[in-house]
Amino acid sequence: MDYLQIQRHTPLEGSIAISGAKNAALPLIAMTLLAKNAVSIGNVPEVVDIKTLLKLLQNLGATYTFDNHCITIDTCCLRNTKATYDIVKTMRASILVLGPLLTRFGHCAVSLPGGCAIGQRPIDLHLKALEKMGATITIKSGYIVAEAPKGLTGAAIVFDKITVTGTANIVMAAALAQGTTTITNAAREPEVVQLCEVLYQSGVAIEGIGSAYLTIHGTNRTLLEMNSFDVIPDRIEAGTYLCAGAITNSTLTLTHVQPKHLETVIAKLEEMGFYCDITDHTITIHPTQTIKPVTIVTQEYPGFPTDMQAQFMALCTQAEGTSTIEERLFENRFMHVSELQRLGADIKLSGHIATITGPSKLSGSDVMATDLRASSALVLAALVAEGETDIHRIYHLDRGYEKLESKFQTLGAIMKRSKE
Ligand code: EPZ
Repeated sequence: MDYLQIQRHTPLEGSIAISGAKNAALPLIAMTLLAKNAVSIGNVPEVVDIKTLLKLLQNLGATYTFDNHCITIDTCCLRNTKATYDIVKTMRASILVLGPLLTRFGHCAVSLPGGCAIGQRPIDLHLKALEKMGATITIKSGYIVAEAPKGLTGAAIVFDKITVTGTANIVMAAALAQGTTTITNAAREPEVVQLCEVLYQSGVAIEGIGSAYLTIHGTNRTLLEMNSFDVIPDRIEAGTYLCAGAITNSTLTLTHVQPKHLETVIAKLEEMGFYCDITDHTITIHPTQTIKPVTIVTQEYPGFPTDMQAQFMALCTQAEGTSTIEERLFENRFMHVSELQRLGADIKLSGHIATITGPSKLSGSDVMATDLRASSALVLAALVAEGETDIHRIYHLDRGYEKLESKFQTLGAIMKRSKE
């Protein structure tokens, strides 16, 4: 396994281009199951999760090419509708093929995704909604076996909780259903918005895009003609690099970003004393004399993103005073706390609330990555920890951050990938 060797180095400087959003690309790739033609998708990040989903679709019979951030995928010859455990276990977002497969073929079997480090991650809301649309769903030997031989029927869906991939799954299922589906309490994340926009541009009538109330008029199993499109920029990657600039007190510019997707993140950074220069597609963060403490509560979009919680916790270790972070979405998304404590951070946990007292003088140590965003928090802390920090199990990072070490090296960081 690889590990990252990171030396303390401040400040960083320069500019980097932000990649396409992994969490937008995944549902968009699953969406190609609804297309009658080969679909080209640009600005796709070359990260492990994307390759995993492409492999899953290839196992079902799809053909694709993926080079220079562009995917061309053809699912017309698909005949197999079983997403097997060996792939699904490595990436729970594979659940995104459930809705499209079922609505197009009338049957599919998808391995239960299982939990992950940050929580149990149930999919009950996905399944309940599909049953409301006429599917028969049984769990057999660890597989979700879904049947709807006459296709799905539009229904009024009310999500008890806001679910990002649940909304994506039902939007895609509804796109080919017979009749109209309404979704109340839909996720409003930019990644869900792009999925709705591409379906709309492909001929699916959708109202309420970007709101919590969606209405989707299905095509009754008529496949869609899809034009090529580019994936939106990754707001979480962008937020991570903004935090890297903040924690090292640097002036950094990010290009190829959508600043409007980062409003709560930028607002928090400015509350901490940083200043961000914003243009249509760039953000430049400037240093501050004193980093002020903050209170953060994670919420669904447009609230403060849970996927930025770990990174801000690393930053709060350098604030002058006591910050609190409340994690409201996942029951176990504090795995980075013990690793940050190993570096010298002063963090106390009480249930879902972390109290961080700073500034702490961090010193390099061996630490272990536990999940995608926790790993990026350790990278940020390592940039200001005295000496060298070795971050192990960085396969977690490779799932969602494209060319992380080369981007940081461009900014002047002393970062090297080595073999255990
Ligand atoms: C998506 O996960 C993202 N993944 C996650 O990003 C992100 O943290 C999460 O949304 C929240 O923003 C992708 O888009 C691939 P949810 P998802 O369904 O859809 C509960 C990353 O770092 N819930 O919105 O799986 C669930 O337990 C990843 O890139 C149910 O109870 O999250 C959680 O508490 C990590 N039943 C809450 O809802 C369900 O059927 C939000 O989950 C579904 C969800």
